[in-house]
Amino acid sequence: MASRRETKNILPLKGYFQIRTSTAFSRWSRQSSTTVILYALPLVLLIVLTRDNGMQRTTDLVAQKVAEIYIDDHVIIAGVGNRSQYEYWDRPDRNVDLALIRGDEKKGIPALKTILFWNGLFYYPDYAFGRGRQPFIDAKCPVTTCLATDDPYLLDSVDQYDAVMFHWPSLCDYPYVATRSEHQLFVMVSDESPQWRFSGYKLPFYKDFFNLTMTYRRDSDIEWPYGQVEVLASAPVGEEEVLVARRNVSRNYAAGKSKLAVWFVSHCKTDSRREFYVHVLKQHSRIDIFGKCGKPFCSFDQLNDCYQRIEIDYKFYLSFENSLCRDYITEKFFNLLDRNIVPIVYGAGNYESIAPPHSYIDALKYTPVQLAKYLDILDKNDTLYNEYFWWKPFYKSHYDYKEMANIAFCQLCQQLNQPRTHLQWYHDIDAWYDGGNHCHKPNRFKVPIKQFDFDNYTIPADAVIKIPL
Ligand SMILES: *[C@@H]1O[C@H](CO)[C@@H](O)[C@H](O)[C@H]1NC(C)=O
Ligand SMILES: *[C@@H]1O[C@H](CO)[C@@H](O)[C@H](O)[C@H]1NC(C)=O
Ligand SMILES: *[C@@H]1O[C@H](CO)[C@@H](O)[C@H](O)[C@H]1NC(C)=O
Ligand SMILES: *[C@@H]1O[C@H](CO)[C@@H](O)[C@H](O)[C@H]1NC(C)=O
Ligand SMILES: *[C@@H]1O[C@H](CO)[C@@H](O)[C@H](O)[C@H]1NC(C)=O
Repeated sequence: MASRRETKNILPLKGYFQIRTSTAFSRWSRQSSTTVILYALPLVLLIVLTRDNGMQRTTDLVAQKVAEIYIDDHVIIAGVGNRSQYEYWDRPDRNVDLALIRGDEKKGIPALKTILFWNGLFYYPDYAFGRGRQPFIDAKCPVTTCLATDDPYLLDSVDQYDAVMFHWPSLCDYPYVATRSEHQLFVMVSDESPQWRFSGYKLPFYKDFFNLTMTYRRDSDIEWPYGQVEVLASAPVGEEEVLVARRNVSRNYAAGKSKLAVWFVSHCKTDSRREFYVHVLKQHSRIDIFGKCGKPFCSFDQLNDCYQRIEIDYKFYLSFENSLCRDYITEKFFNLLDRNIVPIVYGAGNYESIAPPHSYIDALKYTPVQLAKYLDILDKNDTLYNEYFWWKPFYKSHYDYKEMANIAFCQLCQQLNQPRTHLQWYHDIDAWYDGGNHCHKPNRFKVPIKQFDFDNYTIPADAVIKIPL
């Protein structure tokens, strides 16, 4: 490992943050999912025990652990157990040369916009992006003069950071901020659907709190997608050309596949009621269910290996989302699209606009019985089955978590460096995220088969307030 002094000459801050990343983070990332569960358990307990107490400190053991990380009444919760960011990551050398952040024109050092991770993104304390300036350079961001940190003591006070990121679904208490400055932006980060929430999620406290949203929603200030499908230059244009390409698939993707459809699932009861749909589908079709709600197959921390194994034997995969919310299309889709298996989707996102035509089957367009019949037709006719793979040479699916984090952080860095044209804040973040018809919860006793009209959704006028400067 290079010493700090050596690397400082090459690139300010690089070595410093790399040392922290290469020791603590890799140690962390090597830990098994069992460890994650071990750390998540106290967190869940903590939420249960503290949910009604608000800021009140109790003498309970779990609560005491929280109290450890109260600092002058600022609550810093790392999202994993009782360890705050600064405790877990080796305490940084307090002799940080602030000129490396504030910039030094004479030495040609640019001023950096600072981004503080208030809490971790579940078990990613660095939001899967990284710390320091280097990740912005590595990601080849158009603007790289930013610095990300989970160290609230890098600068003298929290109100000095240009942006503060709050991972909303794992905030287990009020992000109690003593002071904030007019210039800084509070960013609401969420990659969960609004139907998935911890207590404390829907608090009036969050009114007039966040300035920016960073979510999978396409109308977020900063979009952090689960995946993206890239259209290559060679892709056919128009229905005619697509039809020609569909009829011209040379490989037989059905070869050697003896099984029909498979589903990996760990949430057995969901707001999307997908389990009801599958329950009926299963009576008419050969569906193998693995995971917590089915047979054991392979462990979820080796999901990629699991997918590799299923694409050999199975023709279809159930990419069924746990929530039917606007734009909520997760890696369950993008990851599977990349493989030699046809995803059957069940979600409220606009698949047509993000995926190649004829690359997936939309379950919500069929009743389970109709779908079973259709799968049977495809199962018996390899030509028809192979048509679902026509697009493979012309498109590329991107879903790597780090790659998607890069997209979001590059945008954030760019926005922080742009001259400001207006002030903005979310007067009612809940109305923006969860209000109106953003999510659907099908009737418990009815299998959902309707198509959703997401062009007709509304955000109350005062959810977001914008004031031109
Ligand atoms: C967490 O809690 C344990 C038990 O109270 C304590 O020993 C430890 O120092 C705390 N902090 C960290 C970083 O583990
Ligand atoms: C059909 O696919 C082959 C490659 O598999 C390609 O060379 C050929 O140009 C394609 N024909 C049409 C009409 O697209
Ligand atoms: C399979 O489907 C194609 C396209 O509809 C059709 O031309 C062909 O006859 C079918 N094959 C069988 C065996 O039914
Ligand atoms: C950020 O939000 C706060 C709180 O609503 C607001 O006072 C402040 O003007 C906003 N800042 C910017 C730069 O928009
Ligand atoms: C949009 O939805 C609202 C209720 O959610 C309904 O009253 C209205 O007629 C719909 N508009 C259109 C154009 O479908």
